[in-house]
Amino acid sequence: MEGIFITFEGLDGAGKTTQIRLLERYLRQKGHDVLVTREPGGTPLGEEIRKVLLNPYYRDIDGVTEMYLYAASRAQHVRQVIKPALEKGKIVLCDRFVDSSVAYQGFGRGLGMDVVEAVNRYALGGIIPDLTIFLNIRPEDSLARSCIRSETPDRLESEELEFHKRVYEGFIALQRRYPDRVKKVDASKSIDEVFHQVVELIECLLSCKK
Ligand code: TYD
Repeated sequence: MEGIFITFEGLDGAGKTTQIRLLERYLRQKGHDVLVTREPGGTPLGEEIRKVLLNPYYRDIDGVTEMYLYAASRAQHVRQVIKPALEKGKIVLCDRFVDSSVAYQGFGRGLGMDVVEAVNRYALGGIIPDLTIFLNIRPEDSLARSCIRSETPDRLESEELEFHKRVYEGFIALQRRYPDRVKKVDASKSIDEVFHQVVELIECLLSCKK
């Protein structure tokens, strides 16, 4: 596989989308071929699954069902979009990936890290990020930021603080388990300061890959 796969993770409102946009522009200016995508979604089928997952109408989706829906969206995304792009040598920037399932379903819903990783193994088809940037903000700040952003919170944003605290613990656990891949960035800082930290990580990765 020629390309580079970079994922962004963190609580809602951590600023993933802004940082991905800045990084996309930065890498394009340096002449790289970049593809930006997201989960859940990234394919026509995945975007349909996303609508179901975020719809507050389905308040009572079981945690196990939820885990499989995210994994189904991912299986399609990996095969239809991510693998082909990496084979063409692109840099793929993905807004959330399997670590979100571990954090939200594994820790948030309490299904456990091992179960979620096992269910996702086949969906991933051997694709693992080269680098995962964990934009670290406190759960209290996450809730405050997503309230400011959206007047009508989606199904997961409507969860109480305790849920977001467990998700946060999940991201911390992932960073401890995979310290070479998952890198923490202090996302409480200004957009420019956060981007500076992101660029340092990217430059380090690009020089290793040469
Ligand atoms: P996202 O589009 O990143 O929402 P936002 O822009 O509000 O951060 O993700 C949608 C929601 O789906 C988000 O609350 C996290 C959740 N999620 C999971 O619970 N499991 C997963 O595997 C993924 C990819 C996302």
